[in-house]
Amino acid sequence: MTRLDSVIRRLTAQRDLLDWASRIISPTGLVLELGLGNGRTYDHLRTRLPGREIYVFERSPAAHPACLPEPKYLMVGDIFDTLPPFIEAVGRRRAALIHADIGSGDERLNREVALRMSPLLDELLQPGGLLLADRSFALPHCEDVTRETGVAEGRYYVYRRQPESAYSAAEQRTSAR
Ligand SMILES: C[S@@+](CC[C@H](N)C(=O)[O-])C[C@H]1O[C@@H](n2cnc3c(N)ncnc32)[C@H](O)[C@@H]1O
Repeated sequence: MTRLDSVIRRLTAQRDLLDWASRIISPTGLVLELGLGNGRTYDHLRTRLPGREIYVFERSPAAHPACLPEPKYLMVGDIFDTLPPFIEAVGRRRAALIHADIGSGDERLNREVALRMSPLLDELLQPGGLLLADRSFALPHCEDVTRETGVAEGRYYVYRRQPESAYSAAEQRTSAR
């Protein structure tokens, strides 16, 4: 497989998953785009989810001018600085869909970022909420449902937060010990 083939497969998976998630997400709950980049996936999401508020996180916005969100929906800065106060402001378990495409060519750094970001995303997803991501995350309250989507393993990652009933009893038992 050439590098061109590989990029095309990844972008096809990304687009197919954005379409899939847009069809099935809860009608209520926030939508977040982590990593604006050129604004391609943001543009796709806003087209698939007309009228829905989409919050975008980006440390150095440089997207095509037609693909820039309104300032009130653009959180400028490092995600580790902007996401915690955002969660504080909107509350935990509020996101119906998060798309995270923040990877770079540095795999070691990507793994570190994913590990550090996992608790924040786990906290933000509402029960049934979906995370689509360019890499794997460690989310204790979510299930990896990539297989449900038909996307090949390792090409893109999909997680769904479990309903509260799936873990609250177990957590209550643990915290009672
Ligand atoms: C691969 S690009 C996103 C491409 C985008 N999905 C598109 O379709 O155009 C990744 C973006 O994430 C941003 N990014 C990476 N790490 C970040 C961080 N810790 N905080 C904020 N933005 C970050 C980069 O600046 C870059 O613009």
